[in-house]
Amino acid sequence: MASVDSLPAHDATPRATPNPRGASALGGEPGPLGGEIGVSTLAVHAGEARQKHGDAITDPIFCASTYTFADTQSVIDFIEQDQPREEYGRYGNPGERVAERKLAALEGAEAALVFSSGMAAFVGLLMTKLSQGDEVLFFDECYHRSRQFCREHLSRFGVTTRQVKTGDYQAMADAISPATRMLISESPTNPHQSIIDLERFAELGRDHGVETLIDATLATPYNLRPIDAGIDYVLHSATKYLGGHNDLLAGVVAGSAAQLEPVRNLRGIMGAVNGPQNLYLLLRGLKTFELRMQRHNENGLRVAQFLEAHPRVEKVYYPGLESHAYHDVARRTMRGYGGLVTFLIKDADWRETADVVDGARIARIAPSLGGVETLIEQPLVMSYYKQTPEDRAKFGIPDNMIRLACGIEDSADLIADLDQALAGRKA
Ligand SMILES: Cc1ncc(COP(=O)(O)O)c(C=O)c1O
Repeated sequence: MASVDSLPAHDATPRATPNPRGASALGGEPGPLGGEIGVSTLAVHAGEARQKHGDAITDPIFCASTYTFADTQSVIDFIEQDQPREEYGRYGNPGERVAERKLAALEGAEAALVFSSGMAAFVGLLMTKLSQGDEVLFFDECYHRSRQFCREHLSRFGVTTRQVKTGDYQAMADAISPATRMLISESPTNPHQSIIDLERFAELGRDHGVETLIDATLATPYNLRPIDAGIDYVLHSATKYLGGHNDLLAGVVAGSAAQLEPVRNLRGIMGAVNGPQNLYLLLRGLKTFELRMQRHNENGLRVAQFLEAHPRVEKVYYPGLESHAYHDVARRTMRGYGGLVTFLIKDADWRETADVVDGARIARIAPSLGGVETLIEQPLVMSYYKQTPEDRAKFGIPDNMIRLACGIEDSADLIADLDQALAGRKA
């Protein structure tokens, strides 16, 4: 948990361009409160200068692709002294600095880097860290696009990808070779919601001198603390709970400043950065991060309990339920279990399952999760339509599976909506 040092110091000097190294805007002064700071206080204040441009309470949107120097000597000073200021939009934006400091504080990490999407963050990190002859190891329930990038694209640069069954730590230990550079998992996984024992995963990496990466998109720093558990890098699709309103794409990777510096440099070359308006939306969304997460957690648990007791439901995958295979590790390591609930309709073929999806009146049919609106989808149709039945069986995607991403509506309404959809009544 962050301390008051993560908040803006009372006497912070007004700055048009906050210090990218974070020193002044993050405080460093002992705060007036003492002790540790709560998640909402960090979400609202961390990373921001106390007195802002134009004396406005919000950080402004800097619509600038480039930044001016007063004279030639200023350019030379900037380069020679590595001065903390903006130069060109691909290398940074004042809003990006604020978002990165806020996200690092929320994550309990030394540093964070914001990218234009979760996948851009993943690609940027791996392109920085891997070279020809290296190998990455995945737990096999990781996001399919992440594994696809490694299998189909990193392979062209001589990087090998291997995967082992999720949760089989011995198989992962056995698979580590002198070429292995990174161990990758998601927690919770999607859509089965398997939970990783983070300390065990981190130890596996440390024991073999291999870096570890956890994609904690489904958990967020509110529900899971991978950095505290010793994981090297935490990745989020900020498109989901961090942005929280289904209105932006963004990604973030958090870790130590030294490990992320080369990633920042590659991002400056790739240009996978957010526009200034997008950064504002992300900062705006983050202000209510804890409140939204509390409601997502509450809705997820109530809906999962309702579904588990429903006669038309065969099985529910939700780590907060005692029946879930990973409930013990989830209870030990998570603050809450998020808004995603996966379930199977009893004795239903794909069409009868689609009827339940189509019967929902509040939940909207769409991919994604973590926004204020509840979304529903049938994985068979949404993400696995072109896969063979054999491949779907291999990935554990039966025809009667539904994925519900609870938003922040009232749980009683979400439950009533599911109840009528399961009863087969149409609007
Ligand atoms: C777990 C997980 N990681 C990463 C991503 C990629 O994020 P983005 O869509 O922001 O590129 C997704 C997207 O669905 C995801 O679900």
